[in-house]
Amino acid sequence: MIVCVCKSVSDREIRASIAEGVDSFDELQFELSVATCCGKCEESVRDVMAQSGVCASRCGVEHYAQQSAPVTFYQRTAA
Ligand code: FES
Repeated sequence: MIVCVCKSVSDREIRASIAEGVDSFDELQFELSVATCCGKCEESVRDVMAQSGVCASRCGVEHYAQQSAPVTFYQRTAA
């Protein structure tokens, strides 16, 4: 199914790019030029990303699902 009409990009192409390591919306835009013309496909592109297990958030923070950062707790003490 064509997701981006302006650039003729299908969901298969998006999934293939994700399988090759693309893991952000910005990278998809760079690789496939999705959502770079009218922009109406952005939500659909993000939906395909989410269905493929890639974070499609707009926060711009890179998420590393495979790595877990150590959690440190600090205890407040009275001054
Ligand atoms: S439909 Fe994707 S940029 Fe227009």
